[in-house]
Parts: sequence; C-alpha cells; structure tokens
Amino acid sequence: MIAPKNILITGATGGIGGALALAYAASGVRLFLQGRDAAKLTAIAARCEGLGSIVETSVIDVRDIDALVVWVHIANATAPLDLVIPCAGININTGPNHAGEIWREIDALIDINIKAVIAVADAVMPSMRERKRGQIALFSSLAGYFGLPVTPSYCASKAAIKAYGEALRGGVAADGVEVNVVMPGFVESLMCDEMPGAKPMLWTAEKAAHFIKRRLQRNHARISFPFPLNFGCWYLAVAPAGVAQRLVKFFGFSG
Ligand SMILES: NC(=O)c1ccc[n+]([C@@H]2O[C@H](COP(=O)([O-])OP(=O)(O)OC[C@H]3O[C@@H](n4cnc5c(N)ncnc54)[C@H](OP(=O)(O)O)[C@@H]3O)[C@@H](O)[C@H]2O)c1
Repeated sequence: MIAPKNILITGATGGIGGALALAYAASGVRLFLQGRDAAKLTAIAARCEGLGSIVETSVIDVRDIDALVVWVHIANATAPLDLVIPCAGININTGPNHAGEIWREIDALIDINIKAVIAVADAVMPSMRERKRGQIALFSSLAGYFGLPVTPSYCASKAAIKAYGEALRGGVAADGVEVNVVMPGFVESLMCDEMPGAKPMLWTAEKAAHFIKRRLQRNHARISFPFPLNFGCWYLAVAPAGVAQRLVKFFGFSG
C-alpha cells in the first residue's frame, strides 16, 4: 500500500482519533479532521500543521447524518481520500447498581457508533471503487467479540461494525478497496477513563495509533490488540456460551 496522502478522521478530538491524526501528520499529507469540541479540534489541527500537514477541520455532530455525508463528499472532492477512519464513538454502561442503560443514551449510541460509521463508509465507497484505490478503517473493539453485562449496547454496536467491516472487505477487495476492522482493548482516553471496572493491559493512545498505522499499512483484515487480551476475548466468542459466561464472571466483567 502506498502511504496515504489524503486522510479523513472522525473523532479526531478524542484519544485515539487525535493520536492517529498526529501519527499520520507529515509534509505532503492532507488531513480532514472532525470533532464536536471546536477548541480541541483547533488544538489538534495546529499540532498536525506543525508536523507539516495541511489540515481542514469540521465541527459536526455525527448524529446529523446529512451534514456528515456532505462533509465526506466535499473532502473527497477536494482531495480524493486514500484513507478514511470513522473513529468517533461513545460508550455507555448499565450505571450504578447495574440499574440498566437509559434508552435516550442507547439511541444516541446506535446513531454514533453504527449509523454514522456506516454512513461515512457508504459515502466514500463509490468513489474509492471507481478509482480502484482507498482504505477504510472501521473501529470495532475487543468488546465486539462477546457481549459484556456492563455494556450491552456498546458491545452490540462494536459487534455490528465488526460484521459490517468483514462483509465489506470481502465485497470490495476486487475493486482495490481495503477495509480493516480495528479491535482495541483498553486504550487511554476519556471514554476509557469513564468506564467502570478494571482496565488490564492499558495502552497509551500513541502506542495504539502507531500499532494501528503499521497494521493498516500492511492491510491486515483484523487489527486486534493487545495480546493476550485479544486472544482471551476471541476465545469467548468461540467457546461454548455457558463456558464464556462463566469466564466473564470469573474475570470480574459481570458488573
Ligand atoms: N479507548 C478505548 O479503550 C477503546 C477500546 C476499544 C475501542 N475504542 C473505540 O475507539 C474509538 C475512539 O475512542 P476513544 O477512546 O478515542 O474515545 P474518546 O477519547 O472519548 O473520543 C471519542 C471521540 O468521538 C467523538 N464523538 C462522540 N460523540 C460524537 C458525536 N455525536 N458527534 C461527533 N463526534 C462525536 C468525540 O468528539 P468530541 O470530544 O469533540 O465531542 C471524540 O472525538 C471509538 O469508536 C471507540 O469505541 C476505544
């Protein structure tokens, strides 16, 4: 894969999205960065420009799908996108005393973690197929392998993106488009901080971004880390359901 020159990242104000923007920032690289927090977005853009990139920012709420799609089309018309990373996401949990998720939050999560991600991929795909070039990195999570009791909707959203990315990859490979599913474990970020429970094998966002970048360069279908947490989570998906449930409880992920 030739190093990508025109890159679009949603959630660039976040821990992983920001670290990815910085990992790719360099002379000759044009970055299209999205976030909601204008101050954070300006700050990350300035750092990327300091590394030599041309940066265009957009403050959009990704729940506004029409605005999101228009932004992707404008970016792609400005500079045909080589790499698209819809990274924006949220996490919710069952709350104090495991009371249960709140529908308003579930609704937002489905919009942000599933609909907006698929909308971005869908918006850029025809152009990539026509050009016979392009890469789309979709953010799932190790939580997408097996549903965890504290975060049912989050796990469901990440399982959805895993399945979508795997399906898409097989369907567009012949057209020269690469689709990758990224499945991080625990990575330092606001979202991770706000999650209850233990965070074993926590990586910094910088370490995660450089790992992801290297694997994307080699077009790995699934970029899951860190070992052995990724192996453990994968095993939950293939083990008999009763065994997996007991393992989740044993390791303290039952809430
Ligand atoms: N950190 C982890 O441990 C971990 C593990 C597995 C997978 N992931 C996945 O990695 C991705 C990045 O997560 P992160 O850890 O970097 O989280 P983060 O630091 O909390 O960043 C989340 C990003 O999403 C953006 N965002 C959230 N809601 C939005 C909305 N409605 N409209 C527009 N932007 C919105 C935020 O923008 P503003 O801040 O500007 O509002 C921010 O840029 C997510 O898809 C997450 O599920 C993370």
